[in-house]
Amino acid sequence: MRPALLAVLPIILGVAAHKTAHTEEEKQVERSLRNAAYHCAAAVGDFTTARKRAFAQKALGQTGNPSVTDYAQLFDQEPLGIEAGPDAEFLSCTPIQDTQIENNTCVLTPEVTEGPYYHNAGHPIRQNIAEYQDGLLLLLDIGVIDVETCKPVPNVLVDIWLANATGHYAGHPDPAPHLVNEQPQVGGSRSGLLSAFPRTKYQETFLRGAWPTDRNGVSQFTSIFPGYYTGRATHIHTKVYPEWTVHEENSTFTGGRLAHVGQWFFEDDINMAVDKMHPYTENPIRHTRGRTRNWRDSLNIFDDSHLNGYNPVFKTHLLGGVIGQGVVAYITMGVNMSASYDNWWKG
Ligand SMILES: *[C@@H]1O[C@H](CO)[C@@H](O)[C@H](O)[C@H]1NC(C)=O
Ligand SMILES: *[C@@H]1O[C@H](CO)[C@@H](O)[C@H](O)[C@H]1NC(C)=O
Ligand SMILES: *[C@@H]1O[C@H](CO)[C@@H](O)[C@H](O)[C@H]1NC(C)=O
Ligand SMILES: *[C@@H]1O[C@H](CO)[C@@H](O)[C@H](O)[C@H]1NC(C)=O
Repeated sequence: MRPALLAVLPIILGVAAHKTAHTEEEKQVERSLRNAAYHCAAAVGDFTTARKRAFAQKALGQTGNPSVTDYAQLFDQEPLGIEAGPDAEFLSCTPIQDTQIENNTCVLTPEVTEGPYYHNAGHPIRQNIAEYQDGLLLLLDIGVIDVETCKPVPNVLVDIWLANATGHYAGHPDPAPHLVNEQPQVGGSRSGLLSAFPRTKYQETFLRGAWPTDRNGVSQFTSIFPGYYTGRATHIHTKVYPEWTVHEENSTFTGGRLAHVGQWFFEDDINMAVDKMHPYTENPIRHTRGRTRNWRDSLNIFDDSHLNGYNPVFKTHLLGGVIGQGVVAYITMGVNMSASYDNWWKG
């Protein structure tokens, strides 16, 4: 009995602790991804700019809307070499420039934990994942580039999941009965966290879904802005599958080869603004533990996500004149299309 336990424990502790690469092989993978990401920084910039142009004009229906200050600075550049989408004619009339593209901004870290709320089966293939969840409209524009070629990658499945406005994942409404009064762990690797809420509602799928990248390497979702829960900075989870099997009968899928596991974050100023909006104000821990700031994220996930200079923080823009009208958030993930990860840091 005891030897078996001992053999298992170090593995569990190993993944729950700091999520840095530890073996020489993992370090090597990180080094080459980092180098490739720097190399791709310019391509990522062009890619994001083209997507912003497309999204701005699609969402707003027109340009020159005086209330849309965020996009105003963006219109002044040669068209970019990205394959034109269906609305190409409309979009080509006002090229835009993003003056804020920074070195390797938006390229996501290699691998951080998938956390305890992933469902290996049952995530629907769909773009609108909001279902009946009340909250701030959030349009996600997620680009995928291959770090080996710096080219956008069409037709890979981007799978995402996030907590609702009051901090619950679909299927996991309550703590385990014997843990209802649990307090966050103090110190240790799980400092600040509660035990994961068990999955008790098997039919719930809100704020979970997957959609393949289009021919420009972009996957877009309609969602609500995520809420927060004990110990974790506000975040969205993702996995990227170059191979998957669709179950036509129920529109779900089974993932095949896994090219990426990651988490995305938001700047604290937007988190702060959302905190004050209904129904985010109804978060049960709002007046007790409150929202965990990015820099205090448990398990070092926020910091680890920045390893090697990667920046997994969305670039956000308001869809209208005020935040309540919605937010569009952009991120680009650099993935290695020839790699197949066994999700090293599952935890
Ligand atoms: C981006 O950062 C890397 C690493 O710090 C540096 O080598 C490279 O010159 C930078 N590129 C640009 C365009 O600033
Ligand atoms: C969807 O269909 C597949 C294939 O029949 C099945 O294995 C899976 O359990 C179903 N999933 C759900 C959520 O119904
Ligand atoms: C979030 O989900 C939980 C669990 O399903 C639910 O009780 C709560 O009402 C939801 N929050 C909102 C704002 O709908
Ligand atoms: C991508 O993965 C392949 C296969 O593991 C590896 O040989 C290659 O060095 C990786 N490329 C980068 C840029 O990390």
